[in-house]
Amino acid sequence: MMQRQSLAALLSLACLLTGCAGQDSSPEIQQETVLQASNLAAGFKATLMATLMEGLADGPEQAIGACAVRAPELAAEYSRDGIRIGRTALRLRNPANAPEPWLEPLLEEYLAAGPGAGPQAVRIDASTVGYVEPLYVGRPCLTCHGEIIAEEVRDQIEAAYPEDDSVGFREGDFRGLLWVTINEDGV
Ligand code: HEC
Repeated sequence: MMQRQSLAALLSLACLLTGCAGQDSSPEIQQETVLQASNLAAGFKATLMATLMEGLADGPEQAIGACAVRAPELAAEYSRDGIRIGRTALRLRNPANAPEPWLEPLLEEYLAAGPGAGPQAVRIDASTVGYVEPLYVGRPCLTCHGEIIAEEVRDQIEAAYPEDDSVGFREGDFRGLLWVTINEDGV
């Protein structure tokens, strides 16, 4: 479920995407920026996953609480000094996670690509770099995003997210993106 991309592949990908062909006049994406984004993404993901697994050990209802509160909190904690981090999806649970415009084509791209696609970095504007990592549905995710959801869990999700559109997934499905933006001027 966790896609690990080798550093070399990641960096050559960054090169590939940043106009090594020379067609793009916007500044090249620096390797350090991509590294910084991938480190941030890894930290965010590990902390969120630990919160989720701890919660699930106490029961899915606790986990929903932990996830609902901690996911936005964690995203806010990571977002400083020109850095923002978050999660988004085509089929949303929390409307606050709706994709920003730069993420929309990437969501469609990953959905079409199917499983196994790796992270990528894109230039959003002259001073902002975006980084995305695809999130795929693993077995623990099915408790709250799967096809069959326990009634108590379903009730709790519906109460908190009346417009939830993020159930009915199968293992291996593309679920959404973990994204990072880095402002190279640090603002
Ligand atoms: C205990 C229930 C639970 C489990 C298990 C769970 N999620 Fe979620 N998921 C939630 C809740 C609650 C939210 C809304 C939290 C928020 O505001 O970000 C959410 C939101 C998301 C989002 C943000 C986009 C959106 O729809 O709002 C993604 C992406 C996501 N989950 C992926 C996963 C993946 C991948 C797994 C498995 C590793 C997983 N979830 C496991 C409850 C769960």
